Amino acid sequence: MILDGAGRARIELHFHLLPGVDDGPQTMEESLELARLAVADGTRTITVTPHARFVDVRTVPERTEELRAALRAAGIPLEVRAGVEVAQEDDLDADELEIAAQGPPGRRWILLEAPLVLDAAGLLDKAAELAGRGYGLLIGHPERCAELMEPGGGLDELLTRGALLQLNASSVIGRHGERVRADALELARSGRAAVVASDAHRPTRGPALTAAVAALVGAGLAPDAAERMVSAAPAALLERGLAPAAAPRR
Ligand SMILES: [Fe+2]
Repeated sequence: MILDGAGRARIELHFHLLPGVDDGPQTMEESLELARLAVADGTRTITVTPHARFVDVRTVPERTEELRAALRAAGIPLEVRAGVEVAQEDDLDADELEIAAQGPPGRRWILLEAPLVLDAAGLLDKAAELAGRGYGLLIGHPERCAELMEPGGGLDELLTRGALLQLNASSVIGRHGERVRADALELARSGRAAVVASDAHRPTRGPALTAAVAALVGAGLAPDAAERMVSAAPAALLERGLAPAAAPRR
């Protein structure tokens, strides 16, 4: 494992790094700029997670290999893995789900996006479907979905069924407003959130793990617990995976 000068080896599990496929970077040059920013932020591994609705999922491994070659040519010390961000409206076949999924056999899991505009009930339905197909679930930015955060909104049900939660660094540092920030910090402080990721899209919406760790510590989290959310916790998810989620009751 490569550590930077501060001894950090951070891992991003939600990051739009493939060029020209979704609302992330539009050119390889922009991808490389984002990658450099991530390395400067202490990150050594990124799972690329284009939105499934914008990309032909079957091309993601090949596109990731092209990015890997470009990183190598540019001398940027960053490991990239193929992945996909799945949303409730995405209808992926078995092969596409396997490209989206991370973790070892039998403990594969999928990054499932909490909806910013669609209803939370649809998220629970999609969670049930993916659980039924044998996948564990990492719910992306639940704090950005106001409906999900309401009492009885479904978050507790997802947690009870074994899903883990990924907070956005941008939420933790207040870029999506006070309600989102407060909910994100509470999920971290209560131990209900497992991971923080940047969900970066472009240099102006870039990597922010260092800032997020500082904000978590400022909000009362122990420094090692905050750092774990961007290093050991995502590492464990990649290496050891996640048990298949139980299907939420509907
Ligand atoms: Fe995303």
